[in-house]
Amino acid sequence: TVSELLSQNIAPNTEVEIKGWVRTFRANRFIALNDGSTLSNIQCVVDFENFDEALLKRITTGAAVHIKGDLVESQGKGQTVEIQATFVDVLGDSDPETYPIQPKKHSFEFLRENAHLRTRTNTFSAVMRLRSALSFAIHKYFNENGFYYMHAPIITGSDAEGAGEMFKVTSLDSKNPPLNDAGEVDYTKDFFGKETNLTVSGQLEAETYAMSLGKVYTFGPTFRAENSNTSRHLAEFWMIEPEVAFMDLPGNMDLAEDFMKSVIQYVLENNKEDLEFLDKRLQDEDKKKPQAERSPMTLIEKLKFVTDNNFKRVSYTEAIDILRNSKPNKKKKFKYIIDEWGADLQSEHERYLVEKHFNCPVILFDYPANIKAFYMRLNDDGKTVRAMDILFPGIGEIVGGAQREERLDVLKQKMAAIDIPEEDLWWYLDLRKFGTAVHSGFGLGFERLVMFATGMTNIRDVIPFPRTPQNAEF
Ligand code: 4AD
Ligand code: MG
Repeated sequence: TVSELLSQNIAPNTEVEIKGWVRTFRANRFIALNDGSTLSNIQCVVDFENFDEALLKRITTGAAVHIKGDLVESQGKGQTVEIQATFVDVLGDSDPETYPIQPKKHSFEFLRENAHLRTRTNTFSAVMRLRSALSFAIHKYFNENGFYYMHAPIITGSDAEGAGEMFKVTSLDSKNPPLNDAGEVDYTKDFFGKETNLTVSGQLEAETYAMSLGKVYTFGPTFRAENSNTSRHLAEFWMIEPEVAFMDLPGNMDLAEDFMKSVIQYVLENNKEDLEFLDKRLQDEDKKKPQAERSPMTLIEKLKFVTDNNFKRVSYTEAIDILRNSKPNKKKKFKYIIDEWGADLQSEHERYLVEKHFNCPVILFDYPANIKAFYMRLNDDGKTVRAMDILFPGIGEIVGGAQREERLDVLKQKMAAIDIPEEDLWWYLDLRKFGTAVHSGFGLGFERLVMFATGMTNIRDVIPFPRTPQNAEF
């Protein structure tokens, strides 16, 4: 690979061979070749006197080529070695008139429409290599800390969040669906006679495994049928959900903080080239902005800030007090004013807390019970639950988790209060009947982590083929 050729000490004049895609072909002589293994291109020098003119014409941006030659010290600036080509074959032509990825700056909107080709650009190849590295770091962390990887089902019969934001799964003939007495489509017969949907979270199933294997995590696709078109929401996203038996909420916070720091540390150590590239890109963007709007930290500084500083732990009640007494902007008001204990925080409040007030990652905990999911452990005050959300600067909510309600009677009451039939979750209730115990876990939105680590500001730019209400092209 190009990465090997550039990074390994290969003796001068060794014969090497490489396949990749042409980024540019300059002066009928210099091919900048990229094969995805690294951000850098390798320069291949083609002495045009020695090659067929018809072949040279086919070396265009985007073409796939096979090159053999000698690896020699480079005379040019910006690279140590280059290939003096003795053999060139064009494996796949690329018509320069119609190839969308020209060697110039393209807008992210344009590249989103060409998601199948956008990883041929430096920015997107760097982002997706980082995405891959982060997934590896996540598996590595859990593996080294005694967790088992559990595969939660994608098609499920339960609504883990009790929020009704599910995509139906159907095996039915859409032209001829079964109807109920009222003449409406009978979704209860969806999946060969049962009602099913795409999972919104693997948590409930992960809880069953935590209550037998001790420490588990899921890492898989999850789906939300919410019609929100923001830069932080997808209809299909990936979630990491650890779940641990005999662990309470403070333990959950410790785990989440250690985990987040560890995976960020991993890319700081292993993905320097891509991070430095993205960092420079952001700094260049920043320079175009007025001084007041510029970022006080570079991307790499932001990542180091997370690994080197404690997350601030703040209760919901404390947060509300802070927000009530805050003057967030010139108008001295939030768009949505928090005047009562019990109100749900909007993203403007979360952003204010992390970016203006505390200026560091924040763990908010002990939320009012009625704005959080039914499975969270009720506190002795009877009105708050052992929930925790982690807020990151520039991102807002990145993790949501909780200590789970382990008491059968309380859980039944909470389900009844929001009309979840006990029959639907009989197996979940079983965990509270047979050897129940304190347990906790959380969900990390993978794309939000990738956004944070790459500095990308739109979630559609950190997942290969984004699914949102507006994007279903691919
Ligand atoms: O806060 P959420 O909804 O929590 C759960 O699903 C719990 N069952 C997790 C658990 O305790 N095991 O989602 C968790 C995280 C959020 O903090 C956010 O980072 C991400 O998932 N997330 C989304 N990411 C992209 N698009 C969406 N529509 C998202 N919804 C949630
Ligand atoms: Mg949440």
